[in-house]
Amino acid sequence: MHISLIANGFGAAVSDLDLRDNALESRGDALVQALDQHQLLAFRETDLDQQEYERLGQAIGTLEDFPDFGNTIGGKSLALSNLGLDGKIMAKDDMMRRNIAGDALWHTDHTYMPNRARYSFLKAEVVPSHGGETQYANTCLAYEALPEGMKQRLEGLVGLHSLKYSRSLVGFTDWPEEQSMGLLTIPQPLVFENPRSGRKSLYIASHIGEIVGMETAAARKLVGELIDFATQPQFVYAHKWRPGDVLVWDDRATMHRRAPYDDMHELRRLRTMRVIEPSDLYDPEAEYVIH
Ligand SMILES: [Fe+2]
Repeated sequence: MHISLIANGFGAAVSDLDLRDNALESRGDALVQALDQHQLLAFRETDLDQQEYERLGQAIGTLEDFPDFGNTIGGKSLALSNLGLDGKIMAKDDMMRRNIAGDALWHTDHTYMPNRARYSFLKAEVVPSHGGETQYANTCLAYEALPEGMKQRLEGLVGLHSLKYSRSLVGFTDWPEEQSMGLLTIPQPLVFENPRSGRKSLYIASHIGEIVGMETAAARKLVGELIDFATQPQFVYAHKWRPGDVLVWDDRATMHRRAPYDDMHELRRLRTMRVIEPSDLYDPEAEYVIH
């Protein structure tokens, strides 16, 4: 397995690894170590089929089960695209289109769920001719670059994450009732410490609507400042997709967002899968409120 840096001191391209090797599972530890070190790994222009893609995911952990939403193969991976259930590009006012507009905000996956994402994968199936990159911010490097005083201020702080809150930022509030019931507010540490490497990162996202023990306005201002700090060009890598590209990243040490493309005319379809872990600060008995 050969690993070479791709940009800005973070992210690494993996080559010389046979992704169809029957013993791929035995390389899982090496891949996790590489993720601890580089936060994001790229496998360029693979020709993995669905099963082989899932085997790669399973090499580094237990994959999340996705319900079958009708436009997916279901199971362990989910298609993210601008196609509706009828196979056509979603209309401008399509509810799903307005909902996924939130993916253009800096975020990290599943921080608003009892099981957060440890690692997320994307595989490019169909890519637009222009735009539609996925941009990644390395929040390990950003944390390390913070002034000491800020690091001390953040120590022990807990952010409250909610998809309802972040979607409201893009004007999406009309959740169907059955979905709305399932949307929770989940606490996560503002600074995450990788239990394997001891490295710290900002664990932040547009999903944070409150910080425990802080005035709402002050909390949102602080989160905004941290997102601005962490997304300065020296911490950001934009991946220009080619069909077959597979990326995997540590969700606790990065943020990402989708760059714009001509989504009324061009098709973009990526396939995601995730390794999940419990959101360990979450207490189902406690009440978390976002004002
Ligand atoms: Fe995401």
